[in-house]
Amino acid sequence: MDIIKAPRGVRDVLPDESWKWAYVMDAARKVSNVFGYSEVHLPIFEHTELFARGIGDSTDVVEKEMYTFEDRSGRSLTLRPELTASMVRCYLEHGMSQKVQPVKMWSAGPMFRYERPQKGRYRQFWQLDVEALGSDAPEVDLEIISFAIYLFDMLGLSNLEVVVNSVGCPECRPTYRQALKDYVGSKFELLCPTCQNRFDRNPLRILDCKNEGCREIMKEAPGMTDYLCDECKEHFHRVKEGMSLLGIHYKEDKNLVRGLDYYTKTAFEVLSGELGAQNAVCGGGRYDNLAEAIGGPHVPGVGFAAGIERIVLTMEGQGCDFGPKPVIDVFVVTADDSAKRAALKLLYEIRQNRISVDMDYSGKSLGSQLKMASNKEARLACILGGTELQKGVVTVKDLASGSQEEVSRDSLVDYIRHSIAH
Ligand code: HAM
Repeated sequence: MDIIKAPRGVRDVLPDESWKWAYVMDAARKVSNVFGYSEVHLPIFEHTELFARGIGDSTDVVEKEMYTFEDRSGRSLTLRPELTASMVRCYLEHGMSQKVQPVKMWSAGPMFRYERPQKGRYRQFWQLDVEALGSDAPEVDLEIISFAIYLFDMLGLSNLEVVVNSVGCPECRPTYRQALKDYVGSKFELLCPTCQNRFDRNPLRILDCKNEGCREIMKEAPGMTDYLCDECKEHFHRVKEGMSLLGIHYKEDKNLVRGLDYYTKTAFEVLSGELGAQNAVCGGGRYDNLAEAIGGPHVPGVGFAAGIERIVLTMEGQGCDFGPKPVIDVFVVTADDSAKRAALKLLYEIRQNRISVDMDYSGKSLGSQLKMASNKEARLACILGGTELQKGVVTVKDLASGSQEEVSRDSLVDYIRHSIAH
């Protein structure tokens, strides 16, 4: 029988990598505190309706990429492909409009999309998702963008490009949509089959088609920003003004539309050259009509989500610092069988003092135990044998220098604490 492997497009994050993730999540937690966002834990699966209505029926995510299944009662459920719709559902379900607005929340965890796997693109991937709900002020868009930049700066990422656009609102978008269709219609035959298909259902998506031919055509396409209503124009102006005020360098891209239908006004992405084709480290924007689309009252919102795998890949590519790799401080070693019980006690005592320590339980020789200590990159080995027990001491070996000395059992913890602090 073949060994069962993980499904295509999903991956194990092993200890060699997981400590880097912990570093990124730690930074995210700190930035969330600084910006006043609270953590929430949301369900991994939701009613399929939530995503179909929230993200939009004609998006790739809903049409082709969702992991949808029926539970045992015949309800259609879907593994979350993103968090924004769930965040809005959570806000509505818990009557958060009664709280001080905007309600600022963040969450992180795995998302699921049936996409073609490649570097930086997986079928199960992690997002850090940050949302501000209940305010239509452009300053909140600015806060969201600056949150992302602050985090990436803190992680030491460089050469990132911030691209922004405004995708308008239901008032001004129909006129733009028509202008776009007029332009694209005259070149219909030259479009790729996917875009020909998009022409009637979702023509805005043609703007960010990756096909070379389509890209060439869309370079000359009219831009949404030329069609914005006064309110959207003023909003976009204030977001850009704010970015200049905070020294955030950005590029306007009239073809940035994003793949989810709920966006209104601001849309943005942060791109990294390190990632190849899947170059977006994060994406986000405003979604003032999402709450209504899922059956609630009007609740404006803005947020972003960043891919954890892509952050780590970019950091690795740029040689960023992940802080010290967590290692075991101490390894307890038994020189002979008579010390086994005392070693177990010592191990537990060191742990009770919040010092990381490990030992071998398989009866290895002294030499092998010391090798194990080095493999685990322990700083010190605490060696216990009959002689040490008789004298009431422990032989402490510094594994880097090889020097060793006898330390009295009573002062051992202080000695270890002092040694590992240097
Ligand atoms: P999104 O652009 O679909 O937006 O995803 C956000 C980020 O998640 C991407 O920039 C990327 O870093 C990561 N990502 C997306 N798909 C994959 C994948 N298959 N493999 C690895 N990483 C991936 C959203 O999901 C919106 N909910 C963002 C948002 C929040 N808008 C407003 N609030």
